[in-house]
Amino acid sequence: MPLTAYDLTGRTAFVTGAASGIGRASAVLLAEAGATVHCADRDTQGLHETATLIKAAGGTAHIHTLDVSDRAQVDEAVATAAAATGRLDVMAAIAGIMHNSPVLETLDEDLDRVLNINFKGVLYACQAAARAMIAANASATANADSDSVESRHPGSIITMASGAVDTGGPGLLCYGAAKAAVVQLTKTLATEVGPHGIRVNAVAPGWIRTPMTDRHDTDAQAHTEGLMVRMSPLGRVGEPEDIAHAVLHLASDASAFTTGQILRPNGGVAMPW
Ligand code: NAI
Repeated sequence: MPLTAYDLTGRTAFVTGAASGIGRASAVLLAEAGATVHCADRDTQGLHETATLIKAAGGTAHIHTLDVSDRAQVDEAVATAAAATGRLDVMAAIAGIMHNSPVLETLDEDLDRVLNINFKGVLYACQAAARAMIAANASATANADSDSVESRHPGSIITMASGAVDTGGPGLLCYGAAKAAVVQLTKTLATEVGPHGIRVNAVAPGWIRTPMTDRHDTDAQAHTEGLMVRMSPLGRVGEPEDIAHAVLHLASDASAFTTGQILRPNGGVAMPW
């Protein structure tokens, strides 16, 4: 397959969680591949920093300050992004939070907060994206010749799961349950929008060094990173760019026959705890 399979020139991407870590690295890489990237997050300052990186790399960025757990805000931002170019080719639903509490100490408000952001936030993004992609494809089919870019690239939706879906671990109830729900959403939606040509895949990273993992207390972080390095055949932890490349692969035509899958860039190990 030619390398042009990774070329996203002329396409529109929407990335949540784009103000930091994996979302930022993914937004920058998608822009470097040629996409116009709509960066969404609740951190406006971080969004501006990401947009600056994209522009410095010669790309095009737009920013949307929003809370992914607010359906109306997500709907409005995705509709605005799709309306700007008349299309939406890629949704990367990456925003998420970490939460750690033992099962016996987990409160309703913990569960609600994590599910609202890490599961419903992904669900809202997927729903808005799938609707925009289906509408753009219908319009392209009605108005354009069969070789139009729109008719050849119906859309790719990427969700962010975690290695936590493959293993239990102390404190992982809320986070792991939300990520398991993301996996179920991914597989279910893939079966429902496949007939439109739209692909839906999840990325389940291992331990990646980002501001999220940096917020762990130092001892826990050193323990987990040490475990990861020992367990990984590659002997290192992941960097945001490792995951961004997985996102680019799933966003691009290089993965044209891949849907309903969980891609595990984890250095060769399951998530350690
Ligand atoms: P991060 O903390 O660096 O970035 C997360 C971004 O999501 C932040 O910019 C934050 O402002 C945004 N965000 C959080 N809640 C939001 C909300 N309600 N509305 C809008 N934006 C919101 O974290 P990182 O590590 O880049 O994580 C990104 C995704 O990757 C998350 O879904 C995380 O669960 C997942 N992941 C991360 C792993 C890691 O080791 N870092 C491992 C496996 C999965």
